[in-house]
Amino acid sequence: MTVEPAVAPGGLPRPQRGDEIELEIDSLAFGGEGVARLGAGGYVVFVAGAIPGDRVRAVVHKRKRSYAHARTVELLEPSSERIAPLADHPGVAWQVIPYERQLQIKSEQVDEALRRIGRLDGFELEEIVPALEPWRYRNKLEYSFGGGDGEELVCGFHAPAGANRVLAMEDCLLASERGNLARRVALRWCRADGLIAWDRGRGGRAADGDERANGERTARTRGERIERARDERTGPGADGRARLRNLVVREGRRSGKLQIRLVTTHGEIDAGGLAAALSAGLGDSLGGVLWTRSHSLAETTAGGDTELIWGDAEVPERLGELDLRISPEAFFQTNTEMAEQLYDVVMQYAALEGWERVYDLYSGIGTIALTLAPRAGELWGIELVEEAVADAIAGARRNGIEKASFFAGDTRLALRELVERAGRPDVVVVDPPRAGMSKKVVHRIIEASPKRIVYVSCNPTTLAPNAAELVEAGWVLRKVRPVDMFPQTHHIECVAVLERG
Ligand SMILES: C[S@@+](CC[C@H](N)C(=O)[O-])C[C@H]1O[C@@H](n2cnc3c(N)ncnc32)[C@H](O)[C@@H]1O
Repeated sequence: MTVEPAVAPGGLPRPQRGDEIELEIDSLAFGGEGVARLGAGGYVVFVAGAIPGDRVRAVVHKRKRSYAHARTVELLEPSSERIAPLADHPGVAWQVIPYERQLQIKSEQVDEALRRIGRLDGFELEEIVPALEPWRYRNKLEYSFGGGDGEELVCGFHAPAGANRVLAMEDCLLASERGNLARRVALRWCRADGLIAWDRGRGGRAADGDERANGERTARTRGERIERARDERTGPGADGRARLRNLVVREGRRSGKLQIRLVTTHGEIDAGGLAAALSAGLGDSLGGVLWTRSHSLAETTAGGDTELIWGDAEVPERLGELDLRISPEAFFQTNTEMAEQLYDVVMQYAALEGWERVYDLYSGIGTIALTLAPRAGELWGIELVEEAVADAIAGARRNGIEKASFFAGDTRLALRELVERAGRPDVVVVDPPRAGMSKKVVHRIIEASPKRIVYVSCNPTTLAPNAAELVEAGWVLRKVRPVDMFPQTHHIECVAVLERG
């Protein structure tokens, strides 16, 4: 490992992968990393684990022509703003920033994204809604398994940027005590049963690398080799047993019920033994146990074959006035208490009088439409995941709401059809994933021509270009309000309202 000066004499320094360099952090980027600049040319290094005012030694793990990513290995001089961390947890990098300052930074980042990326102005940035609970607020945690083959099996989170390791964890301060107990009971059982973690190592890249060294091989051979690498890593071990990938713990915050889902490779486990151990350890709080066998090489808990091995497949939950059941495949806002605050802002921005036709696009289990129902004429939801749509339809029935209908489909394709079937919307609420909406979807919304668009965003950098296109097409961005759903992390949620000018 080399130690290079941060600024090369007379030229633009370009650190190499693996270099350790000293850096002064001057700001925070979208995504939460610290930003340092090298030399007169201002070569940017994004630094995980650092905040403005810190001087750090960091190791470069990714390098591009105009920027690099690095990970802090030593804090040389701490920023005067730093406070002592509470949690030994890679997912809460902003815990060293006082909470009031976190809120200020999130507001500034929303404002900056809209102004700089979207080139928007004239809107009112309303005060951020602070979180009700600074810790233990998540109702769903996805842990990873690591180690186990000659090493101790652990169940926790991946180490920060560039370090391919899973860190052991005693108390996850984002989960409730009950959720933590569930992880400990499951891990204890997996260790006692001698299960080991899957090899998440080099993925299909091993096959790829060999391939490049043997340029004469055919594409078919390459495909076969990747397939074989996949089978080796996602199939059973030599003993026929499954290897451990993830543990997903979901909790109905109001019902107190836990849903535990073990994600493994293909192969066998003593599923009944796991359920019995969880039941003995968690008592009445255990709602259901599921087991997913996944063939994916990607680090994901989605997909695969899921079977219910104990109890109920859905988690019961209350949100505002709503009585809900959430399927394992369905999205649900991960901070139940703050989802209520978020939906209050949606309700205010939708400004419904009671007669309007409302579309809820990217509707998940229908919580926005169902929350708005008492103040709307009719509601129509579109959602990609069929299980979530089934939850939404069942939720409408359970809560006695007859004026809401939900459809499974891709918003890009289904929106036009919905307009033909239901008529033009008066108000459209959208709540897309982090990537925001494609241009096609934005154009479909423009075609549908609603009077008001309420945009719920978990990423201001994709809200900004979407909002800019809508403004270009004649809507006016009136107000934006950030809501802090994820204290101690860089994640930002906000709601914006646009009205036809
Ligand atoms: C951020 S969640 C919002 C869900 C819901 N509005 C809520 O508040 O719980 C985004 C949802 O969009 C869905 N989704 C993703 N891509 C989609 C697409 N192309 N068309 C329709 N829904 C999609 C996801 O399955 C997820 O349920």
